[in-house]
Amino acid sequence: MGHFRAHICHSPNRGTIERIQDALVSVDDDGSITDIRTMDESTKVPIDTVDLRGQGVLLPGFVDLHIHAPQFPQLGQALDKPLEDWLFGYTFPLEAKFADINYADEVYTALVDTLLANGTTTAVYFATTHVPASLRLAEICIDKGQRAFVGRVAMDDPDGCPDYYRDQDAATAVKDTADFIDQLRTLPGNHEGQVEPIITPRFIPACSDDALKGLGKLAAEKGVAIQTHCSESDWAHSHVLERCGVTDTSALDGFGLLTRRTVLAHSNFISDADMDLIAKRGAGVAHCPLSNIYFANSVFPLRHALEKSVHVGLGTDISGGPSASMLDSCRGAIGSSRMLEDGVDPALPANTRGRADSRIDFRDAFWLATAGGAEVMDLLVGQFTPGYQFDAILVKLPESFMVGTDETPDPDALLEKTLMLAQSHDVKATWVAGRQVYGA
Ligand code: GUN
Ligand code: FE
Repeated sequence: MGHFRAHICHSPNRGTIERIQDALVSVDDDGSITDIRTMDESTKVPIDTVDLRGQGVLLPGFVDLHIHAPQFPQLGQALDKPLEDWLFGYTFPLEAKFADINYADEVYTALVDTLLANGTTTAVYFATTHVPASLRLAEICIDKGQRAFVGRVAMDDPDGCPDYYRDQDAATAVKDTADFIDQLRTLPGNHEGQVEPIITPRFIPACSDDALKGLGKLAAEKGVAIQTHCSESDWAHSHVLERCGVTDTSALDGFGLLTRRTVLAHSNFISDADMDLIAKRGAGVAHCPLSNIYFANSVFPLRHALEKSVHVGLGTDISGGPSASMLDSCRGAIGSSRMLEDGVDPALPANTRGRADSRIDFRDAFWLATAGGAEVMDLLVGQFTPGYQFDAILVKLPESFMVGTDETPDPDALLEKTLMLAQSHDVKATWVAGRQVYGA
């Protein structure tokens, strides 16, 4: 398909950054990287080479593991209530509007454009209960070239959902999900399954046991990924403990919903035993640091989870988190890990205020937003390695941020600056599977 000549930087392994100052990346017609070499005098430059030198640094595109597509209209708003009141007061009324396909079309088009402009090359979406609107989101991703998982939301429990926005019963929740999967898989233009369905029980408090069981069975039958919310807040966590007598994680496992391709959003209150079970199943966590500030009542013990071999990536949780940018999620993950380590209440003595050894740094955050997220979804993206898909972004900081710095700064420090300071307008171009999907 083509070749890219650029300064590249990626993190195939957590904690380390690799870079090539002048690289030639070759990509085949399927968007797969076939070769990466360091340019020297003897390297022949193919004529169809896109030369990106001097235009910024080429990074792997971001994998956003947790997005509520229909909540985009309230992004940056409605952050004043606890989770359970927020759902009934703002979010369910908004999501119910997606019965109108024209409304869905308008919102989802703007959302996918915004995410591509922010460098999100893989998006894992919750849509709504409406099959036509959820399929429209998949069509828009196909049309615009974003790699995505799209989930039609299942929620049928009359005690946990409003009458105006819920599946009629468990059978409907499962049947509409099955129909959605079949229809998505046959959408025209979906090359190599770039857009995949994902089974999406909203969370245990909104679903009956029968629906959860049925969806677990469906996932096994159809070989589909799964996403849900797990142990997010004090309320959500204790609600499941009371109803099921076990933790969210154990209950989901019992319903057949904890698999190699399950994404558990938030998971702030998971125990060590939960972490062991998640790691054993090969499932993963979508850490959503900005949303957790508003709705979680706590900070996710990220480093502990990583040290216990749990797969983890990052999510924006639009609109629980007030940003569409994975750069903001990276900064949020770093910042909240520091707050967990030191603690936050100045009235407490320093030695009991926080939780030791909790911090992560920019290297970890970069890995989480790229290769880490890819590992959660079991996708060959998130790094520049032969056999992986060429999903990439070109990022260039304003020159003014470089004033007074060394001409040859420490290479990691350059990435640190980029990750800490870049804004969405510093993302100059985005490619998915070798195809440019954003930028001039
Ligand atoms: N738990 C159930 N639904 C939601 C949602 O839409 N957002 C968040 N943050 N948590 C949830
Ligand atoms: Fe969420």
